[in-house]
Amino acid sequence: PSAIESRHQELEDRQRQNLIIMTPALLILLGSAVMLQADLLPDKKSALLPPVNFTIKVAALAQVLLRWEPNPDQEQRNVMLGYHVKINAPQEDDFETRNTESKHVSVLHQGFSASVQTIPWSDHALLASSWVSAELKAPPGSPGTSIVNLTCTTNTMASDWTPLRPYQVSLHCTWCVGKDAPEDTQYFLYYRYGSQTEECQEYTQDTLKRNHACWFPRAFIHSKGRDWLAVHVNGSSKHAAIKPFDQLFALHAIDQVNPPVNVTAKIEGTRLSIQWEKPVSAFQAHCFDYEVKIYNTRKGYFQDTPGEMVVGNDEPKPWTEWFLVVLMATICILFILSLTCRRCHLWTKLFPPVPAPKSNIKDFAVTSNYEKTGSGETEIEVLSFVEEPELEVLEDFVF
Ligand SMILES: *[C@@H]1O[C@H](CO)[C@@H](O)[C@H](O)[C@H]1NC(C)=O
Ligand SMILES: *[C@@H]1O[C@H](CO)[C@@H](O)[C@H](O)[C@H]1NC(C)=O
Ligand SMILES: *[C@@H]1O[C@H](CO)[C@@H](O)[C@H](O)[C@H]1NC(C)=O
Repeated sequence: PSAIESRHQELEDRQRQNLIIMTPALLILLGSAVMLQADLLPDKKSALLPPVNFTIKVAALAQVLLRWEPNPDQEQRNVMLGYHVKINAPQEDDFETRNTESKHVSVLHQGFSASVQTIPWSDHALLASSWVSAELKAPPGSPGTSIVNLTCTTNTMASDWTPLRPYQVSLHCTWCVGKDAPEDTQYFLYYRYGSQTEECQEYTQDTLKRNHACWFPRAFIHSKGRDWLAVHVNGSSKHAAIKPFDQLFALHAIDQVNPPVNVTAKIEGTRLSIQWEKPVSAFQAHCFDYEVKIYNTRKGYFQDTPGEMVVGNDEPKPWTEWFLVVLMATICILFILSLTCRRCHLWTKLFPPVPAPKSNIKDFAVTSNYEKTGSGETEIEVLSFVEEPELEVLEDFVF
């Protein structure tokens, strides 16, 4: 037993010794771990690391998908990171995002290039990373072979298909053949609106049987016009590679607006009241501006409103002598304001203050009164002219 006891004692001693030796080692280890930890904490003066695997891919017609990954060596997990994306070509643009991908609409026939850097999202004491870039090469093709002067227009008709799609939009595009395109060149047109891409089925051809216009009687254009309409025309020839061509169109800029509907005019007391409804269009009522022309049948004068009223300077005739005919057909839409169509400015834009009448027409259209009734798609515009009480006109109005 004494041998066992002494053996036990010996073991205990050795453990104690080991502990004495190991403690500083443990402390050193612990210390270095703490120092390592400190290294991992954000160093306020160091720059972030750039993203990796940045790629640009064609996602759809005239649309690219930019994608990148956070830098795997970026250890600062407790820092919110974002990315600054810069489009370099064909058109400069830049934006910031927390995502690691982004879709971008752009013409692609001249190629596309972009750069991205890591940025601190909230902690602005950190420095942004260096940039990484990627590019999409311009598609091949001989110079002078791509189409030129592409123009497209849309027109809207009421559709009786379904209440969900009350409109039928047709698209018509024309172009000129590239000046150096071989005679056997054939062109093909595609458009994309939203997620729908469609190839032209109804071409018009020139004398050499080359397509130079296209007609889509029922295009997939249903929305209220916030997206770009992307058009792509490529081609083929046995003798040359045909350079493709892309163009983006804003729908409000190419829409051939229809005339207003249900135009009526009537006299109420001393008022001439003209009413009409929004034209057939997917655009909302507040996107439209109207011009009204009132025609004097006796003198052949036109009166336009709003805007400066044009009447003959040589004929200082009182208002009472005007035979007025409201020409329904000449009530025309001036323009669509914009896609955003901010309502707040509409009425001042629609109806600017009536300018001071010229001296020879001082009795003329003293006040113009505008009302608006209805709502949504069947909005009705009412335009009234209120006469001075001393003027008796009514029997002179002819409709
Ligand atoms: C970057 O791409 C390479 C090759 O495709 C891949 O092995 C690697 O995992 C990617 N890196 C990241 C951070 O996704
Ligand atoms: C294209 O349009 C431009 C400018 O309107 C014009 O000068 C040119 O002649 C047109 N090209 C062709 C091939 O029609
Ligand atoms: C033209 O473009 C369409 C759509 O991108 C593509 O599917 C087609 O292969 C192209 N044709 C030629 C001749 O390049």
